[in-house]
Amino acid sequence: MRKPIIAGNWKMNNTIASGSALIKELIPLVKDAQCEVAICVPFTLLPAAAELVKGTNIKLGAENVHFADKGAFTGEISAEMLKEIGVEYVIIGHSERRQYFAETDETVNKRAEQALKNGLKPIICVGETLEERETGKTEEVLERQILGAFQNLTAFDMPANIVVAYEPVWAIGTGRTATKEQANETIAFIRKTLVEKVCAKCGADIRIQYGGSMNAKNASELMSMPEIDGGLIGGASLKAEDFSKVVNY
Ligand code: PGA
Repeated sequence: MRKPIIAGNWKMNNTIASGSALIKELIPLVKDAQCEVAICVPFTLLPAAAELVKGTNIKLGAENVHFADKGAFTGEISAEMLKEIGVEYVIIGHSERRQYFAETDETVNKRAEQALKNGLKPIICVGETLEERETGKTEEVLERQILGAFQNLTAFDMPANIVVAYEPVWAIGTGRTATKEQANETIAFIRKTLVEKVCAKCGADIRIQYGGSMNAKNASELMSMPEIDGGLIGGASLKAEDFSKVVNY
């Protein structure tokens, strides 16, 4: 029922020139993918990327969106601006935003609401730190993040348009992947929370990705798990061949 989605998160990497070259290389390598494919790229690259992916199976995503329609928010980008370019997905609440840019469950919630209101599909990131995992707080933290992010969201008529990315902070960019059992079990807990406490009718239909050092080598193993509906790929999305191997797991 849930179509897997593999999304690249380019973070603060690539200029228009290098990013365009990467997209051109990627297009033929992922054209027969069985899953949904998306690349989330820096704002400056979005217009060029939108032109390049037109007519291909690659969907375009941004890495953040502001929660206001418009106004005095220097340095921010609105949902309308993203829609105009043809952006479909937007990453919200990535742990790097939470860690370095004071993102909170409340702002994640507001951004997600704004994205959905404007027809953008949020990829809502959650995940525990190493300390939280080691002190047995993983479920408590994830439940707080999920309930916070989904508070009062009403656009549940389209659960297929909401993606959650479970990204244990200790696995991001560290080369230390969660085991497939760990990832599966934790994602099952997130789904249980969605079904029991957020939306009984649609919780089962929301796709939940795994993210954190997922790469060409471990993708098929992770994707073989029943609860894992895709991946959010950082480092391995910056090389066309590596990313295509993840996509074609
Ligand atoms: P990584 O990043 O694949 O480089 O660990 C994943 C992410 O931050 O989304």
